Amino acid sequence: MDELLATIRQRRALSKKWHRYAHDIAPAWVADMDLPLAPCIQEAIIRATQASDLGYSSDALQARYVDALNAWTERNYSTSYPVEEMQVISDVVQGIALSLQSQLQPGDPLLVLTPSYPPFFQVARELSLKLVTSELLMREGRYEVDFNDLERAMTAARGGALLLCQPHNPTGRVFTKAELQEITSLALRNEMIIVSDEIHRDLCYAPYQHLPVRTISDDVAAKTITLLSASKTFNIAGLAAAALHIPTGMRIGRGNVVSPMLLAHPSILGLLGGAVAFEEGAAWLESTKKTLSYNRELTRSWSLTRPEIEYATPEATYLAWFKVKALKTTESLWTYLYRKARVALGDGQDYLPGSNEYVRLNFATETALLEKVLEQLTQALDEPASSS
Ligand SMILES: Cc1ncc(COP(=O)(O)O)c(C=O)c1O
Repeated sequence: MDELLATIRQRRALSKKWHRYAHDIAPAWVADMDLPLAPCIQEAIIRATQASDLGYSSDALQARYVDALNAWTERNYSTSYPVEEMQVISDVVQGIALSLQSQLQPGDPLLVLTPSYPPFFQVARELSLKLVTSELLMREGRYEVDFNDLERAMTAARGGALLLCQPHNPTGRVFTKAELQEITSLALRNEMIIVSDEIHRDLCYAPYQHLPVRTISDDVAAKTITLLSASKTFNIAGLAAAALHIPTGMRIGRGNVVSPMLLAHPSILGLLGGAVAFEEGAAWLESTKKTLSYNRELTRSWSLTRPEIEYATPEATYLAWFKVKALKTTESLWTYLYRKARVALGDGQDYLPGSNEYVRLNFATETALLEKVLEQLTQALDEPASSS
């Protein structure tokens, strides 16, 4: 195990995932992949650096990025975004903050489905929005929207925004058309805008299919801001480029006008990497998804051997969100598994505040490492917790 960890750590010398914890800890937390990069992206970046062409990005490169993203969207989701309504930004989290800041006033409500990607809570705090939550519930082996509760939450969030994650991190749900119709119609009935983070859209496993939220209806499209990026799909978050689609009618929100100077100049490598990925990366994605599917199956089989684990196989993403029931320990589940299994998972408390029974495992790593991680989790769960 140590040798495997050392090899990957050395290769990933610049990564946050690999350099936060002690050397004997297997990192399975932040959402990036330890898998090889698409050769088309590597080659494009090598060419740009060899040509010493790392200055400010041209308008043509920005246009190429948007066109490539749109062509990809058309091929995979049979829709596209009007080019004049697209804004190139540095990353999706920036786009979320930007959208909400321009559309809402401090004190306005923000509705989030929980468990949630932690920056959704952070943005509510930082913009002084009133956080309203509705929890997805495990029913018959999958996480589902509790529509009775959602109706209550929507009423409480009337006039504010729904910040949606489709596909959903951390549960891996890909909301169906019927679910999206119900969610969005409740939002519109309560005069809310929708900010839809679709960063995980390309990581769905057959037969699940991503549906862009704005395609639900013209009324929904008129009230939806969408955030898109190549960063999760192609594992290039470090290149920093993303796109925001905002319908013309929402250009002037009721919040603050955001200075264009705060948008930052899009990185030349981000735009180039994203454009090339969308243009030429389909075959790489298909083969990478085979590895992810294999690892997903490995994780599912492992979960079936553990009666204390409550787990719904993700329909998308490389993230496994699970509950460990009745662990007799005074420390948090995350700390227990960190200490005993020597694995750093995502801490469930960050995704579902107040709950201490969940963790999120990132399985986008070398299969040999995932096998070790699962083995170490097994040993830790088998040990009497009294040793804590
Ligand atoms: C739902 C979601 N949105 C946004 C991000 C981060 O995107 P970016 O790096 O473009 O800010 C992540 C990363 O894991 C994510 O899961």
